[in-house]
Amino acid sequence: MTMKLSNNTILITGGTSGIGLELVRQFYELDNTIIVVSSNQNNLMQAKAQFPKIEILVYDLGNSLSVQELIEKCLFEYKDINIVINNAGIQNNYTWTDEKDGYIKIENEIRVNFTSPMQIIYGLLPLLTTKQNSTIINVSSGLAFVPKKSAPIYCATKSAIHSATKALRYQLENTTVKVFEIIPPLVETAMTVGRGTGKISPKQLVDEFLRNFKNDTFESNIGKTKLLRFIHRILPKLADSIMKNG
Ligand SMILES: NC(=O)c1ccc[n+]([C@@H]2O[C@H](COP(=O)([O-])OP(=O)(O)OC[C@H]3O[C@@H](n4cnc5c(N)ncnc54)[C@H](OP(=O)(O)O)[C@@H]3O)[C@@H](O)[C@H]2O)c1
Repeated sequence: MTMKLSNNTILITGGTSGIGLELVRQFYELDNTIIVVSSNQNNLMQAKAQFPKIEILVYDLGNSLSVQELIEKCLFEYKDINIVINNAGIQNNYTWTDEKDGYIKIENEIRVNFTSPMQIIYGLLPLLTTKQNSTIINVSSGLAFVPKKSAPIYCATKSAIHSATKALRYQLENTTVKVFEIIPPLVETAMTVGRGTGKISPKQLVDEFLRNFKNDTFESNIGKTKLLRFIHRILPKLADSIMKNG
């Protein structure tokens, strides 16, 4: 059975900005119930002003206690969740030899981008496996395959998301839970202000993803990511040099 696009109950992290906000917009217009999580009450209120029927929850994915509380809240108050979208993410750019707060930054970036999304999946699987039709959608990056020098931890967390998403897809293949991955190229969002050229809009990304989602294409290589992965397979050194200073 392919995923239906309407009448789902969707939990999405980081739905207040960029790619997440556009996912909220499009799923909202398709008549889904949406629960948006972010760490910032004001950002959530702004999202709710645009999409009045969304539920908003303030939880910090950089804090493991907060993630436990989010999971408990969903298990007891939002038992209808059948789609979990792990979209929230941060990218720290710094030179390690010049950085004073490396210990804390390394830990936080891994937690927000990898540990918390994995714990949210683990914690909510009891809800998902009891539904007829349920889905996990993880957001990785083209940088999962070819890193850039300014963001070692970010790139590593995205490789980790990619690998874990694939392995979980194998684990869950005999259940009702489908596991999707969105692999974006450079997208015009707050995360990429002042960086790079040739960005696509969040709308272009979500339009392409939804076409794949409808067809049960589990790995969505969006836009230029298709070309990047092709070059990486046949000319890996060229891919490395293209992405190194990206
Ligand atoms: N933009 C790109 O070019 C690009 C490319 C590849 C992959 N991606 C991935 O796409 C996803 C979305 O990125 P974006 O570009 O849309 O970024 P963005 O505009 O900066 O949005 C990031 C979202 O994550 C939330 N967030 C950040 N830290 C959080 C925390 N500690 N707890 C809870 N929520 C938190 C933010 O909400 P609050 O600030 O309200 O907490 C915001 O809603 C990320 O996983 C990113 O790695 C982006």
